[in-house]
Amino acid sequence: EGRLPLKMVHGVPLLELISDNWKQVEQFQARPDDLLIATYPKAGTTWMQEIVDLIENGGDLEKARRAPTHIRFPFLEMTYPPPVPSGVDILIATPSPRVIKTHLPFQLVPKSFLVQNCKMIYVARNPKDNVVSYFYFDQMNKMQPEPGPWEEYLQKFMDGNLSWGSWYEHVRGYWDAKKKHRILYTFYEDMKRDPTGEIQKVMEFLEVDLAPDVLQKIVHYTSFKAMKENPMANYSTIPKNIFDVSCGKFMRKGEVGDWKNHFTVSQNEAFDEDYQHKMAGTTLTFQMEM
Ligand code: A3P
Repeated sequence: EGRLPLKMVHGVPLLELISDNWKQVEQFQARPDDLLIATYPKAGTTWMQEIVDLIENGGDLEKARRAPTHIRFPFLEMTYPPPVPSGVDILIATPSPRVIKTHLPFQLVPKSFLVQNCKMIYVARNPKDNVVSYFYFDQMNKMQPEPGPWEEYLQKFMDGNLSWGSWYEHVRGYWDAKKKHRILYTFYEDMKRDPTGEIQKVMEFLEVDLAPDVLQKIVHYTSFKAMKENPMANYSTIPKNIFDVSCGKFMRKGEVGDWKNHFTVSQNEAFDEDYQHKMAGTTLTFQMEM
């Protein structure tokens, strides 16, 4: 029990429980009607999952909660000590259509998803808010490595040494992949600015048509305030030895620009300079404040 070391899988640091079970993940058999929700950790995974489940269940919150792959469903790659079944074990036994979530970078997504031409929704969040959110999460999630002090944590993020690897490669990997694959690439900041418009894009991608009042209901249920109070969405039911809620809440702040309360001026300058190098040559841009 407790915090786990990271081990490299094809150059990407992953929790040892995941790397030890990598063969099973790599050989996972996707089905053509699987939907993959992919994110770097803390980019808005849970938010998108709630949106998708509500869309697929006609805006009915109770039905969405009963979806076999609702929010507490493990990540595709998540592996636990036996006898607890792995994400893959559970998915094999799950009826279609499946909504599958993953934090894997595009190059580590099991090949069967590409062979089956599965739809994927990617959520990207600006790196400064993303790293702040991850820093708080690693304090409460007792499986993740110790975050240590902020200064060191920020450096690890910039160096790609956190669990699930480099944010820069993650966001760029899916951005490039969407030229060839059925990927809806969304941004946390757009979801904050225009939830109705973004939920509509997801509806179109899923080929689901809903009445305007149903759409507005989904906007309401997926607001930060509603999700923070929804025990099925706020992870308050996770055992204390995994999520130590005395160290913070899963639904922490839900804002754009909170990084300004954490980065010093010099950290911000160093970050921006490094960012220019790591993101050179991409058309991908991020909104750092609203
Ligand atoms: P903060 O720590 O900045 O508050 P993930 O689900 O990928 O782990 O991401 C969690 C982050 O998304 C947290 O960010 C959480 O508060 C935020 N979040 C979850 N639901 C949200 C919502 N409905 N609106 C805005 N932010 C949300």
